[in-house]
Amino acid sequence: MSVLVSGIGELVTHDDGLGVLSDAALVASADGIVEWIGAAADAPAADRRIDVGGRAVVPGFVDSHAHLVFGGDRSAEFAARMAGERYDGGGIASTVAATRAASDAELRALVGRRIAEMRAQGTTTVEVKSGYGLTVAHEERALRIAREHTAETTFLGAHVVPSGADRAAYVELVSGEMLAACAPHARWIDVFCEPASSHAFDEDESRTVLMAGRAAGLELRVHGNQLAAGPGVRLAVELDAASVDHCTYLTDADVDALAGGDTVATLLPGVEFSTRSPYPDARRLIDAGVTVALATDCNPGTCYSSSMPLMIALAVREMGMTAQETLWAATTGAARALRRDDIGVLAPGKRADLTVLDAPSYLHLPYRPGVPIAKALDLT
Ligand code: NIG
Ligand code: FE
Repeated sequence: MSVLVSGIGELVTHDDGLGVLSDAALVASADGIVEWIGAAADAPAADRRIDVGGRAVVPGFVDSHAHLVFGGDRSAEFAARMAGERYDGGGIASTVAATRAASDAELRALVGRRIAEMRAQGTTTVEVKSGYGLTVAHEERALRIAREHTAETTFLGAHVVPSGADRAAYVELVSGEMLAACAPHARWIDVFCEPASSHAFDEDESRTVLMAGRAAGLELRVHGNQLAAGPGVRLAVELDAASVDHCTYLTDADVDALAGGDTVATLLPGVEFSTRSPYPDARRLIDAGVTVALATDCNPGTCYSSSMPLMIALAVREMGMTAQETLWAATTGAARALRRDDIGVLAPGKRADLTVLDAPSYLHLPYRPGVPIAKALDLT
């Protein structure tokens, strides 16, 4: 059954710029594709009608970076950090232990609940990473469960070197047997790349893992430059990764590399908020011509928030972005970070993923922080 969505006070399409229509309507086909967009007065007939009562409608948020397959609780680590402890990735080990201990049914329920929480805040596409199993069987299981919920699944065996493991042997495992087990359930491969000596992987280790992933048919994304200015950004651009995420500490050479390549810079301001770190300089990136995306990084260590509206508010308040730039980055920009052109934009032929705001304008997203105004529209 086709659906006419009527009573749209303000419709942001991102088709050719911001693309704002007032008093608009939209028709979606039975299989969820936009068939028509235009003035309410010209709306064609459809099998069903949903009236949104003058509210604003925007493209559904695309959360292109989330770690949702985990068990356990790290609220005490967060509290200690707010009392002055530094984040260095060392807490990941406790989530790994709790995740391994969880049953398949428990993990499946946790992921399902987290995705429902995201939809209830306007997110219609989510990427989900493994990375808290770190054995062949546990990484394979995480991706199998993630795949039940999204096509955007990412193998992150190279999250940290598990405690007690030999670094070189672990890199070999991730690039060999673990990759072979995980690749059938994954679209992407990711690596936590930081300067040598952190809990993460250095440039050579990261390159080894990413090249093995590409040879196995996976596409590339990178966690880079989160803890310090390191090799992550330049490696991501060199290998034409779809996105390099965090970009908290950037040199001029990093910005130049991003401006000259096709790799999106995905900024995760919830991490800076929850680790009390300096925010990335979005203005510098945008002014240099870099494509910027926003995502939550929802995870138990550095940002246990699933709220794209919170990321938009932080980016406007703290990172020098306009409201228009943040909404674009949270939809079209994030779709580019997933190399998708069927989402993040509302136009005939694109997916009819709609988010309704209980507000007259998209400007209310940063204007009303912490207020649950955004919700994904269920067309079924
Ligand atoms: O994206 N930096 C690496 N991974 C996550 C945090 C993981 C954790 O602390 O559990 C991130 O911030
Ligand atoms: Fe992350």
